[in-house]
Amino acid sequence: MNQTAPTPRVAVVTGGLGGLGTEICRQLAEAGHQVIAVDLPAREERLQAFHESLADLNGAVKYEPADVSQFDSCADLVARVEQRHGSVDILVNGAGITRDTSLRKMTPQQWHDLMRVNLDGVFNMCRNVVEGMTTRGFGRIVNLSSVNGQTGQFGQTNYSAAKAGVHGFGMALARETARKGITVNTVSPGYCDTALVAAVSADVRAQIIADIPVGRLGSAGDIARAVTFLAADDAGYITGANLPVNGGYFMSF
Ligand SMILES: NC(=O)c1ccc[n+]([C@@H]2O[C@H](COP(=O)([O-])OP(=O)(O)OC[C@H]3O[C@@H](n4cnc5c(N)ncnc54)[C@H](O)[C@@H]3O)[C@@H](O)[C@H]2O)c1
Repeated sequence: MNQTAPTPRVAVVTGGLGGLGTEICRQLAEAGHQVIAVDLPAREERLQAFHESLADLNGAVKYEPADVSQFDSCADLVARVEQRHGSVDILVNGAGITRDTSLRKMTPQQWHDLMRVNLDGVFNMCRNVVEGMTTRGFGRIVNLSSVNGQTGQFGQTNYSAAKAGVHGFGMALARETARKGITVNTVSPGYCDTALVAAVSADVRAQIIADIPVGRLGSAGDIARAVTFLAADDAGYITGANLPVNGGYFMSF
């Protein structure tokens, strides 16, 4: 068999310090890529814990601060990454927030804050990397949506709208860029064993698990596996797709 080593790429992961983001950084680095974890300016202790958790990767993951909700911050970030590390080949949009409440109580602020991060953030980052990817004829974009964008969730009109929007955005961009060697795909996690779900009461958690056919919450590793697969050079025939990673919680065709 003629096996060649995969080309090392420069990968940017927004929300890179988060529960899923950190593991996505790890797996991309283990796949041989130079990874830039992008997140809001963080306190020294958080950065130290992040770097310590990835210490075995020998500096393959760096951190750069940016606010994805701000277009200029993303433009600055991409310029900095290109100067320090090289052109961005892989972009994973993982930065996300929740502002849960029923629509009857939702303030315009809660709606807009969420949209600015979860949906504008995807535009702001993609808009700043797509030109370079097009010129170079290669790019991998993976956007993190959610099962709740596919099914809707009580108290999450804002989150569900943004997460459904992320996939619509991705399908359109996939069409615009397919001839240029760029793929754009979505990964939709189900309920994962991260801080968000850990915060719910034991009986709600037990009920969530009872509804998952695989019988457990997803791990950050389960999600990172899907992202890393779609980010690979040889995943070039998959574009505009949504890859659900939810333990069978929501099945569709
Ligand atoms: N954890 C789950 O069960 C789950 C399920 C479905 C979808 N998701 C999605 O996966 C992604 C990652 O989730 P997670 O569980 O790791 O969440 P997390 O809260 O642990 O991480 C999100 C990260 O995004 C960063 N962030 C927030 N606003 C930002 C901004 N304006 N600019 C830059 N960074 C910003 C946060 O600082 C944080 O580090 C999110 O988009 C989330 O909606 C998560």
